[in-house]
Amino acid sequence: MYAFFQGKFVPLADAKISVMTHALHYGTGCFEGIRSNWNETEAQLYIFRAADHFRRLHQSAHILHIQIAYGPDELCDIAVELVRRSGLKEDQYLRPLAYKSSEVVANLKAHTLEDDFLMFVVPLGNYLDPSKGVHCATSSWRRIDDMSIPPRAKVTGAYINSVLAKTEAVQSGFDEAILLNADGHVAEGTGENLFLVFDGKLITPGATENVLKGITRDTVIELAREELGIETEERPVDRTELYIADESFLTGTAAHLTPVTKVDHRNVGNGEIGPITKRLQDLYFDVIRGINKKYIDWCLPALGEDGRVQAGAEAQGRTARA
Ligand SMILES: Cc1ncc(COP(=O)(O)O)c(C=O)c1O
Repeated sequence: MYAFFQGKFVPLADAKISVMTHALHYGTGCFEGIRSNWNETEAQLYIFRAADHFRRLHQSAHILHIQIAYGPDELCDIAVELVRRSGLKEDQYLRPLAYKSSEVVANLKAHTLEDDFLMFVVPLGNYLDPSKGVHCATSSWRRIDDMSIPPRAKVTGAYINSVLAKTEAVQSGFDEAILLNADGHVAEGTGENLFLVFDGKLITPGATENVLKGITRDTVIELAREELGIETEERPVDRTELYIADESFLTGTAAHLTPVTKVDHRNVGNGEIGPITKRLQDLYFDVIRGINKKYIDWCLPALGEDGRVQAGAEAQGRTARA
């Protein structure tokens, strides 16, 4: 396994940072989670919506005063090269991280600190089990707010909020937590956006409800509109709507599209995976594996016929920094 670290591709075991690294102490980093999905029939690995993830990484970095030395296209090339070098023929997860790398204490002035970037790839199967419904708990922790730690930036330190909520939920026997905002409206899961189905329509908390504007969320909104003729309403969602929805599901790069069949010991609908959830899930899995060719533009192939980097990288005249 390889990492892209300090401008070079190195064995993962050699990619090490100092105990004094600023980001380790103060959470001054931002990251992405990107899936590379194995297509067995084509013997291909498709990196899903890589450019969109890297654009969001740049937005997060901009909010944090972190400069990334590589543009989204160059980051796509690095991702392709990492996947290719991994030699893995299974579903993978890419983790790019832009962070404050200064080895210094007692300095909270972001603009005076050094920046660095790394990325690595690891195998990753299911995070939650999308073939079954999950039981969610409304968390006793509140979602962080744009006025304190902005959830629209994927900030490393902000994940303490998710870790506290997830741990509490799992230790209490649930699969996942749903966080409410300070005003009591539903925000999202610990690493997922949330959708409800009411009367054949989709509802999800809006982008200003302290959520990460998920790329899977966006994918599902588009698939629902294009393929099922279903519009998504973005609006504030009450906690009790979680209990009376016809169907509900979570979306996220790690969690895919996972049905929620129970919330706080109450069935959602009849407690089974709902028909709209199932149709969207089937569509989504065909899209992320590059099986549904209508959405192939979202899939960046990592393996060429001769094992070399293909479209999106060399094919477009771009080269990864090595
Ligand atoms: C807090 C949070 N919300 C939502 C998501 C879903 O975002 P995406 O679909 O882009 O992975 C994630 C995962 O990255 C997350 O960590």
